[in-house]
Amino acid sequence: MSDLDALLQAAQADFAAAPTPAELENAKARFLGKSGRVTELMKGLGALSIDEKKTRGAEINQCKLAIEAALTARRDALAAAELEKQLKAEALDVTLPGRQRGTGGLHPITRAMERIEAIFASMGFDVADGPEIETDWYSFSALNNPENHPARSMQDTFYVDIKDEKGSWLNLRPHTSPMQIRYARAHAKRYAAQATTPEGMPEIRVIAPGRTYRVDSDATHSPMFHQVEGLWVGENISFKDLKAVYLNFITAFFETDQLQLRFRPSYFPFTEPSAEIDIMFESGPLKGRWLEVSGSGQVHPQVIRNMGLDPERYIGFAFGSGIDRLAMLRYGVNDLRAFFDGDLRFLAQFK
Ligand code: DAH
Repeated sequence: MSDLDALLQAAQADFAAAPTPAELENAKARFLGKSGRVTELMKGLGALSIDEKKTRGAEINQCKLAIEAALTARRDALAAAELEKQLKAEALDVTLPGRQRGTGGLHPITRAMERIEAIFASMGFDVADGPEIETDWYSFSALNNPENHPARSMQDTFYVDIKDEKGSWLNLRPHTSPMQIRYARAHAKRYAAQATTPEGMPEIRVIAPGRTYRVDSDATHSPMFHQVEGLWVGENISFKDLKAVYLNFITAFFETDQLQLRFRPSYFPFTEPSAEIDIMFESGPLKGRWLEVSGSGQVHPQVIRNMGLDPERYIGFAFGSGIDRLAMLRYGVNDLRAFFDGDLRFLAQFK
């Protein structure tokens, strides 16, 4: 083997033994650097004759090119290995299942409320919201249910340990009916001012859904429950309008006209006459049973007066329906408490 072949082999072995780019550069210097072995050979050329210089010079050059090629190959190999290492370290396992952000959903009672609002809005009803802590006057007296009247015991009321300006205990509203008075009084002035317009008298047409409270707890009663109050008063609003509106509502809510409506005489202090509204499905799992869904009636003249309106001119109907009951019937839930236990296995079914 010529000395140049041996030199090339030595360089290749040296490069191959360099584990890092930095060490490779050191190895390079040993062969191609200023005092490297190839450079030393070049320097030796000076002592040779012209002809010898030519052949020897060309041979050394060949050897130098081969060493440079070996260096480049090793550099590339080290860079590739480095890249490989880096890719391995940063590897993503795309076969792992993704991390999911849980999707929320509306509570079934909220869904029922939104349905109710949409249906009544389509019949021209405004939607109003009011306080859950009420004064005695709004919850009872204004609704023609004076203090010490036995009708007050129809509602097992929660009282708040604070008195209103008239010295009565505040209460957690036992029904949404106070909203009849609140809404009407908030709008009565406007109605009175407009009462002589050619279009005739303006009307009050509103529903007020919301939370209500009573001392009551079993499979079909919860101390916190939901009602929707309805009120439509105007110049000429009668019981037949109540019947049409309620039938329209209930068929839209249950998405079926396979049902009947029944008005059963009843008593409420704020309506005269008063009726319970029962429904009966003509098909499906609840077929053939009368189910009570609402109180209703023609608004009592004294209540119209308490609204700030003239009972000689204003007449109309009101109703108060249990939203939880409607939701139970619609979704086939037989224990009201399931709505309020906060069990996601139950709630997630309504997403
Ligand atoms: N407020 C009554 C209750 O909670 C329900 C009710 C009955 C509301 C008759 C009304 C009505 O508006 O006219 O039991």
